[in-house]
Amino acid sequence: MESIRQEFTLSYSYPVFFTRDLFGEGNPVLPELLSSYGERPVRIALVIDSEVARLTTGLLEKIKRFASLHQGLLEFVTHPLVLPGGEGCKNKPQEVERLHALVEKEGLCRHSFIIAMGGGAVLDVVGYAAATAHRGIRLIRLPTTVLAQNDAGVGVKNGVNAFGRKNFLGTFAPPCAVINDFDFLRTLTERDQRAGIAEAIKVALIKDRPFFQRLYAQRRELSVFSPPAMERLIVSCAELHLEHIRSCGDPFEFGTSRPLDFGHWTAHKLEELTHGELRHGEAVAIGIALDSLYSHRRSLISDLDLHRILTLLEEVGFTLYDTALRWIDIARALQEFREHLGGVLSIPLLKGVGKRIEVHEIDVDVYQECISTLAAKESRRGESHGLSEKSAIGTRDTGRLVS
Ligand SMILES: NC(=O)c1ccc[n+]([C@@H]2O[C@H](COP(=O)([O-])OP(=O)(O)OC[C@H]3O[C@@H](n4cnc5c(N)ncnc54)[C@H](O)[C@@H]3O)[C@@H](O)[C@H]2O)c1
Ligand SMILES: [Zn+2]
Repeated sequence: MESIRQEFTLSYSYPVFFTRDLFGEGNPVLPELLSSYGERPVRIALVIDSEVARLTTGLLEKIKRFASLHQGLLEFVTHPLVLPGGEGCKNKPQEVERLHALVEKEGLCRHSFIIAMGGGAVLDVVGYAAATAHRGIRLIRLPTTVLAQNDAGVGVKNGVNAFGRKNFLGTFAPPCAVINDFDFLRTLTERDQRAGIAEAIKVALIKDRPFFQRLYAQRRELSVFSPPAMERLIVSCAELHLEHIRSCGDPFEFGTSRPLDFGHWTAHKLEELTHGELRHGEAVAIGIALDSLYSHRRSLISDLDLHRILTLLEEVGFTLYDTALRWIDIARALQEFREHLGGVLSIPLLKGVGKRIEVHEIDVDVYQECISTLAAKESRRGESHGLSEKSAIGTRDTGRLVS
């Protein structure tokens, strides 16, 4: 019997910029980046999140001016394609089809660029379409939410939802570049500013105790989204995500361990159960609270650590209970998460603040008690804030309240 061992190594490198006024006359980031690619003019299709297109005053005119200032270097092949922003776009195969049709119609090739501007959902859809058209068209991401700038937009993954399952289809495909323009954050709702804070708390908890301490110390500034505090949070959080992908030894997640998914297995389930009504970051905040409570029940973190984690989450404004938690079938959610990982179940938990361990089973009864603890806590919090019990624990419920 003959066999040939095929082996090669690829190395990836892409810049992540932090800037303002990206399409302003004096901003060199995009022109210099595109200049480094040799071809002239660089052919680009631009895809914009509908909320960004709607709320950013003068955006399209500014992009037009930018294009005429740099003609010869770059060419937008057609008008920007506006994609409906938010989780809904990940549920619709027709959005991916529209993007593939755009590539076909405009004759984009593997040396052309797709520039995706938007929240994490739009970036995920466009990234998936770009990675699959011609087996991969160059992608530049311009993330426009806090969560997209500090997490979703900087990594190597993309994906869409299918069969009612979160990120069921997707690829690992590093972008050519990521450009975080802080100016885009000005039009975000409070809800979307807050959602991005959850991923920063997550990565601080599993990797960086001093970062967690800083977030805790700045919780009042963060609760009012003070731009200097938010911008520092974004840079630190993006750097921790990038550092993890760069040095974990498994950037494309061939193994079963997914350390960055702390708090995510319940979060993904909550997103599915609420049909995307809960933002990813809001669901992650609840997942962090639950997995921290569970870590505490397993004597992995101290009373004080648990208190600080829950206080930080609450004081930046997260609601730590959602009625959908009542419908979660924990055993099934764990099974689905295992399938998503491949191989054995591996759930990251905390071992003190700033460190994590992987566990391979979860005690369903104990986890259920953690859910009840959160329900009771959130209900008490609502009462002390003068809210009705129902508004204190989420608004989707049409039935019985948690007792
Ligand atoms: N690929 C990855 O590695 C990765 C990592 C984390 C999260 N994600 C995915 O990211 C998604 C969540 O991303 P998100 O939190 O950015 O939410 P989102 O993309 O759903 O955006 C939230 C809302 O903000 C709007 N929006 C976007 N930019 C805006 C702006 N500048 N001003 C005003 N409104 C704006 C959107 O239209 C949407 O309505 C989830 O689908 C999640 O699964 C992916
Ligand atoms: Zn996440």
